[in-house]
Amino acid sequence: MQDKTDRKAPSPHTYDGKVVFIAGASSGINLSIGQAFARAGAKVALISRSLDKITAATKTITDEGYEAIGMAADVRDYQAVEDALKLTASQFGKIDVVVSGAAGNFPAAALDMSANGFKTIIDIDLIGTFNVFRASFEFLSRPGASLIAISGQAPRPTMHQSHVCSAKAGVNMLTQCLAMEWGQAGVRVNAIAPGMIGDTEGMRRLAPSVAEDQANAGSIPLRAYGAKDDIADAALFLSSDSARYITGAILFVDGGLILGDSSTTARPGIG
Ligand code: COA
Repeated sequence: MQDKTDRKAPSPHTYDGKVVFIAGASSGINLSIGQAFARAGAKVALISRSLDKITAATKTITDEGYEAIGMAADVRDYQAVEDALKLTASQFGKIDVVVSGAAGNFPAAALDMSANGFKTIIDIDLIGTFNVFRASFEFLSRPGASLIAISGQAPRPTMHQSHVCSAKAGVNMLTQCLAMEWGQAGVRVNAIAPGMIGDTEGMRRLAPSVAEDQANAGSIPLRAYGAKDDIADAALFLSSDSARYITGAILFVDGGLILGDSSTTARPGIG
């Protein structure tokens, strides 16, 4: 599926000397965010639960000549996350940006899901985000740090996504509660809510066929999937000085998807 953005100029935001920690970074949106921060000058630390996958992901960044380290840590394991943050701070110094993006997903009706299936997604997405943010606080540049949760289309109920929608609704509320609590420390906490983003594991699971891709794209107001770079751009903006007065925001980067299915109300001849 063609995405909207045939890119493009380099990011206007620079991160020379900054340190960025990203959870769930072995592929997809989160790896693209890591690559974008590295290209903008940051040293990046990546975690995922598979050592092999995170080592390969880290290599894509070091092969371009940028500084990066990769560590195996499951976001459900608080101690493992804390150890990875500690190692990052000892190697690179204080952490300026934390992105919590580890997520699990499978399409399943509630009646086809066990209690453990539901809990697994809550554990990865919601409790994992709490673990990453809570454990990072001690290592953050304060004031000035930017925390970003990768959320989802949570305000909109979605068929066969009761587990994911519930987890992401929690992520949004956690983001806003932490923004309130940590604002006085100069720590901003925001979320990015991606819509349908091409070339990601999530979309491969949710829309495995070209026909499904086309039907999906036809319902999005901007009539196309987004690109991983669209999410990376938002992360670089939200962590920059340009966003210094933004905290507690849930930034939808979704071509208008959250507004509803626009195919049913399209005006003939407009597009
Ligand atoms: N339908 C219904 N239940 C499912 C399921 C599916 N397609 N896939 C997993 N589950 C259930 C399992 O049956 C299990 O419940 P049970 O013990 O009652 O049988 C529970 O979820 C945990 O599964 P398990 O495979 O042991 O968990 P895990 O921690 O290894 O990984 C996922 C679970 C969801 C994270 C895994 O599918 C995964 O690796 N996904 C890739 C990451 C991804 O989806 N990325 C895109 C994010 S948008």
